Amino acid sequence: MSDQKDYIVIKAKQDGVNVIGLTRGTDTRFHHSEKLDKNEVMIAQFTEHTSAIKIRGKAVIQTAHGEMHSDE
Ligand code: TRP
Repeated sequence: MSDQKDYIVIKAKQDGVNVIGLTRGTDTRFHHSEKLDKNEVMIAQFTEHTSAIKIRGKAVIQTAHGEMHSDE
């Protein structure tokens, strides 16, 4: 099912990690910002509204492309 792909998992490794959604379309801008505290987990998808996700702070990020640590 197409709406079940492209989940990403973000686990914060410090307080105050920001997960920022950027809009799809000709205009690429922030539309949502979520703050995670240490060990909080967010599971998010790319949607018709969200084409890019920016993560600020130390976190573990899992996607279909693998796992990465934003502080390394
Ligand atoms: N309402 C937004 C959307 O459907 C919510 C969202 C989806 C989001 N993916 C995100 C917000 C990733 C932040 C990061 O597009």
